[in-house]
Amino acid sequence: MPYQFQKSHELFQRAQSSIAAGVNSGIRKMEVPVPLYFDHGKGCRLFDVDGNEYIDFQIGQGAILYGHAPAGMADAIAAQAKKGTHWAAQSELEIEVAERLQKMIPSAERVRFNNSATEVVLTALRLARSHTGRKLVLKFEGHYHGWADEGLVGFAPPPDKWGSEDEPTRLHPSQGVIPEVLDQFVVARWNDPDHLRRRVDQFRGQIAAIIFEPVLCNTGCIPPVPGMIETIRELCNRDNMLMISDETICGFRFGPGGAQEFLGFSPDLTILGKAIGGGVPFAALVGKEKSFAKIISGEVVHAGTLNANPLCLAAAKWCLDEVIVRGQSHPAECIRLGNKMMAGLKALADSCSIPLQPQGPGLVFHTAMLKEGAATGPIKDYRDYVQRHDAPRWAKLRRCLLEEGVRAIERGLWFVSLAHSEADIDEALVRAERAFARFAEA
Ligand SMILES: Cc1ncc(COP(=O)(O)O)c(C=O)c1O
Repeated sequence: MPYQFQKSHELFQRAQSSIAAGVNSGIRKMEVPVPLYFDHGKGCRLFDVDGNEYIDFQIGQGAILYGHAPAGMADAIAAQAKKGTHWAAQSELEIEVAERLQKMIPSAERVRFNNSATEVVLTALRLARSHTGRKLVLKFEGHYHGWADEGLVGFAPPPDKWGSEDEPTRLHPSQGVIPEVLDQFVVARWNDPDHLRRRVDQFRGQIAAIIFEPVLCNTGCIPPVPGMIETIRELCNRDNMLMISDETICGFRFGPGGAQEFLGFSPDLTILGKAIGGGVPFAALVGKEKSFAKIISGEVVHAGTLNANPLCLAAAKWCLDEVIVRGQSHPAECIRLGNKMMAGLKALADSCSIPLQPQGPGLVFHTAMLKEGAATGPIKDYRDYVQRHDAPRWAKLRRCLLEEGVRAIERGLWFVSLAHSEADIDEALVRAERAFARFAEA
C-alpha cells in the first residue's frame, strides 16, 4: 500500500495561516504531493508525522553526511549547551576546529566561520574584489552559490533567455534584486575550456575571481571534463584572479580534503558548508593566507553575531573527527554503495522501459529522466541538462519512490551518507522496484 500523507497535508494547511506560503525555504514547496513534516530520524532513516519510514537520500540537502541524530554529535552539542550556547566571543573550540581544517585541506592556511554557505560566498567575493581591485566575477551557468543577490546570477535562465553560446546572459531568478548586481558578473558555460578562455579574454584585467562548483551538483551531477579545472587554475594564475572553489556540497563528502584533494587542484579560497556542521548552521571560508590579507588587515569587513557559535563548533568538531578517523576509506565506501545504487536503479528502470539515466561519482549522483527522443550519454552542462531532462516526468517518478519510502531530492539528486549500509541500499532497491512498477503502470 503506497504511503499516505494525511497529517502532513493537515499541517501544511495549518501553516498557511502563519508561515508565508507554508514553508521556510522556497524549494521545499516542490515536494509532491505535499511538503512533508518529519518527526525524527535515525541513521539513514527518516520518520514523518504520518508514521511513514523513509530510506533517506536527501539527507538534509547533503548536510547529514553522518546520518540523522548520531549519538556522539548529540552528546557533543548537549555538553556544550550546558556550558553556554553563545558568547559572541572567542573560544578554544574555534581554534580546534580551524586547526582541523588546516590539517585536512592543504589550501586552508587561514579560516573564517559563518552560519551559512550563502554568507561565506559573499565574504569570498568581497575579498576577491578587494584583493584585486576589480569588480567582475566569472561564474558558470547552472552553478548555485547561495540564494543572495550575488550567488544566483546566471543560475538557471529559461531557454528563451539563454543568450548565445559565446555570451550567456546574466539573469537573476528573483525579483527585488539590486539591478546593478547583475553588472558585476560574467557568465560562462561549464565544461568548455576554450569558451572559458575566450570569455576571460573578453574581460581581461577586469575579473577578480572565478567561482565554481568543482563537481556541478546543483544541475544534474556533472564532473569537470579533463582540462576544465586546470584551465581555471591557469587563467587565474595568468591574470591574478582568485580561484574560488565552492565545496558546500563536495567538502568532506569527497573525503577529508574535499573535491580539491579528490580531483587534485589547489584553489585560493574554498567555501565549505553542509557536512562541515552535520546539520547545524555552520559554514567556513578557508584559503591561502594571501587571499585573506584584506580581512587580516581589517580593510574587508567580515562579521556576524553568531559566527563561531560554540554549539555549532562542538558539532563541527565532532563531524570533522568522524571524517578524519575514516580517512580515504569513507569516500571509497560511499562511492561503492552509490555506484551499486545507480546500477540497481538503471537496471530496474530499463526493465520497466523508464528512460532513467543515473550520472555522478556515486557518493552523490543525479537521475536524469530523458525526454522522448533525447540522446543518451553523459550530460555535460546546464543547457544540455535542460534540453534532455524531463523534470515533470521525474517528479512523478520521485513521488512513486516517496510513496514506497525512498526519498531523493526533488530535482533528482541523491546523496549516500556514512550511515547507509549495503543492506539499506538493497532494501532501497526493493522499494524502488515497487515504485517503478507503479510508475510504469500509471
Ligand atoms: C554549492 C553551494 N553553494 C552555496 C550554497 C548555499 O548554502 P546555504 O544554503 O547553506 O546558504 C549551496 C546550498 O545548497 C550550495 O549547494
